[in-house]
Amino acid sequence: MSGKTVIVSGGARGMGSAYACRIVEEGGRVLIGDVLTNEGRKLAESLGDAARFVPLDVTREDNWHQAVAMASEHLGPPTGLVNNAGILLQGTLESTSDQQWQRTIDVNQKGVFLGMQAAAGAMRTSGGGSIVNISSTAGMIGFTDCFSYTASKWAVRGMTKAAALELAPYGIRVNSVHPGDTLTDMIAGAVGDTGAVTTPAQIPLGRYGTPSDVAQLVLFLLSDESGYISGAEHVIDGAATAGAFLS
Ligand SMILES: NC(=O)c1ccc[n+]([C@@H]2O[C@H](COP(=O)([O-])OP(=O)(O)OC[C@H]3O[C@@H](n4cnc5c(N)ncnc54)[C@H](O)[C@@H]3O)[C@@H](O)[C@H]2O)c1
Repeated sequence: MSGKTVIVSGGARGMGSAYACRIVEEGGRVLIGDVLTNEGRKLAESLGDAARFVPLDVTREDNWHQAVAMASEHLGPPTGLVNNAGILLQGTLESTSDQQWQRTIDVNQKGVFLGMQAAAGAMRTSGGGSIVNISSTAGMIGFTDCFSYTASKWAVRGMTKAAALELAPYGIRVNSVHPGDTLTDMIAGAVGDTGAVTTPAQIPLGRYGTPSDVAQLVLFLLSDESGYISGAEHVIDGAATAGAFLS
């Protein structure tokens, strides 16, 4: 990651913070963007000169332009972007309200669109880059009680492919990552509930994922070692969606 500057949305906590820490550990620089300003600032300070924080609401185009400008000014032009910010509002097809639907699509889908759009120009100028869009296994199969979330995460997978085709001529790779249940604040409240979250017994590898499991994959996709990988979906779920599991 040496010489690379990466913007991580939703980087203040959870998986985003694991990506930010690993990027710096591996010699890169990171701009952490989040609506959680206290947590984000603290994390950036703890990572030293190689990290900065910017207040970023991914649903706002102006915030994205500020983030790209801040990265370029303080850390170097961005060559990496992890579109990680996301929300999970549970609800079935019939119980999901218009407001819930719109909020989920705004953050999880429009946020990824605006992030890619804002970063693409800077990456073109730098001669290339790598964009990693965090989808979910809910972007590979259907989930119950997560109707708008599932819709948004399939959209991330589709946008990834369209962007990979359009940006390939500029040396910009775009991939999607599809974690299964991973222990962060997002699912902490849902563990043990029916519906949204599996139990370890339902996961062939026998445990939930951790942020550091997913960080290994994201770092690989950001690095030059993955230079011929683009437009692909990368599932990381302990084989939970591989097929019927008769334990
Ligand atoms: N935890 C899981 O089991 C799991 C599984 C699959 C996919 N994911 C995806 O991984 C990503 C990270 O999830 P997590 O588990 O670390 O969740 P988390 O709730 O711990 O972290 C999400 C981060 O996104 C930020 N965020 C929310 N709305 C934002 C906005 N409008 N603008 C900027 N930042 C915003 C939050 O403040 C938070 O820091 C999400 O996209 C999520 O959908 C999570």
